[in-house]
Amino acid sequence: MAKRVSVLGSTGSIGRRVLNVVATLGEEVEVVGLSARHNARLLLEQARAFRPAAVGIADDRQSFVLKPLAAEGVDVCAGEDAAEAMATLPRVDLVFVALAGFAGLAPTLAALGAGKDVALANKESLVTGGKLVRNAQRAAAARIFPVDSEHAALGQCLDVCQPGGVRRLILTASGGPFLGKRREEVANATPEQAMAHPVWDMGAKISVDSATLMNKGLEVIEAYWLFDMPWDRIDVLIHPQSVVHSLVELADGSFLAQLATADMRLPIQYALTYPERRELRFPAARLELASIGRLDFARPDADQFPCFGLALAAGRAGGLKPAVMNAADEVAVEKFLASEIPFGALAGVIEATLADAPDGEIGGYDDVVRADRWARRRAAEAAAEVASRTRLGGR
Ligand SMILES: NC(=O)c1ccc[n+]([C@@H]2O[C@H](COP(=O)([O-])OP(=O)(O)OC[C@H]3O[C@@H](n4cnc5c(N)ncnc54)[C@H](OP(=O)(O)O)[C@@H]3O)[C@@H](O)[C@H]2O)c1
Repeated sequence: MAKRVSVLGSTGSIGRRVLNVVATLGEEVEVVGLSARHNARLLLEQARAFRPAAVGIADDRQSFVLKPLAAEGVDVCAGEDAAEAMATLPRVDLVFVALAGFAGLAPTLAALGAGKDVALANKESLVTGGKLVRNAQRAAAARIFPVDSEHAALGQCLDVCQPGGVRRLILTASGGPFLGKRREEVANATPEQAMAHPVWDMGAKISVDSATLMNKGLEVIEAYWLFDMPWDRIDVLIHPQSVVHSLVELADGSFLAQLATADMRLPIQYALTYPERRELRFPAARLELASIGRLDFARPDADQFPCFGLALAAGRAGGLKPAVMNAADEVAVEKFLASEIPFGALAGVIEATLADAPDGEIGGYDDVVRADRWARRRAAEAAAEVASRTRLGGR
């Protein structure tokens, strides 16, 4: 029987790749729901190509573009809850959460609450509400398939490990476009330079997060929640070739690692066909280790990448701190991409927001929403202070 999927964020970098892979899997996968935020034109195209039962668009003002779909038998849902509606469609078995940012938390919880399995690309849902996601998953006895390449790699290694036999998880990081440069050298880097990732082709936010290494900090928190591993047993190594996607150190000192080309379609396909491995039916480069020649590993430089340290500290502090840190990062990156603040100010905006954040535990989803809203306001103020000092003035 076909696996019936809903793809949230289908118009994004990951979402488009999910649909590319689905197209090669033929009758094994049926697309039942699709959702996006603004890009109604691409959503319309995708709906015509994949014939889902329903589509959702968060931005109400764009819903007119999707009107013709109603006459073609597709339900159209518009508004802030559209992704949740697509996450809970009764016929869906697997929800692919490929939205960017905090917006991923509510539909992830909704999907798990409705007993669906989740293929999770959206790391921010675990960063901000990891406790809620894990509780919802346990209550529903649902599965979460990690799609982030590092976590997909760890999941594959852990699948063949005895639970008590693991000493340490090691996430690898490419180091991004500014690896080896001093902080002062990149303080005024442009958005184009920050987004020019040497290995991965990704959405704007995650590309900037990779340039600051914030992305790796978010991924450590993601690993903490996905794999129930204490903080001091999750490490990070810089590995510029991005061939080893992550490693597990075992109790006897042996290591298991997953190696592959840097192609997000691989973890996406595995999440769709798990536990089976399929030949790729799309053109993809084969990993040729002899032509790569060498694999390098190094410890991350805390001085070069202050955002990495901020993320780890927020993760360890727990409670609402990671949600505050995440919101501050989303705001800071947005302001940087709009050329309102320099690259070198990103860490300062996040630090100022965290410094003022009240302590608090996560009682429920509303607590996380309140922390997110508070942090967005505070981060916007901090960014405005920086902008008035540096007079970048925006685009
Ligand atoms: N790109 C990668 O290679 C990669 C790798 C690992 C993990 N991830 C993670 O995967 C997630 C997606 O990343 P991406 O690079 O694909 O981002 P992206 O290219 O910016 O795409 C984001 C997608 O989410 C949609 N979206 C955003 N806010 C929404 C909302 N409020 N309601 C409904 N849809 C919303 C966007 O719709 P519109 O197009 O209409 O704006 C778009 O479809 C992130 O959490 C990222 O960290 C990405």
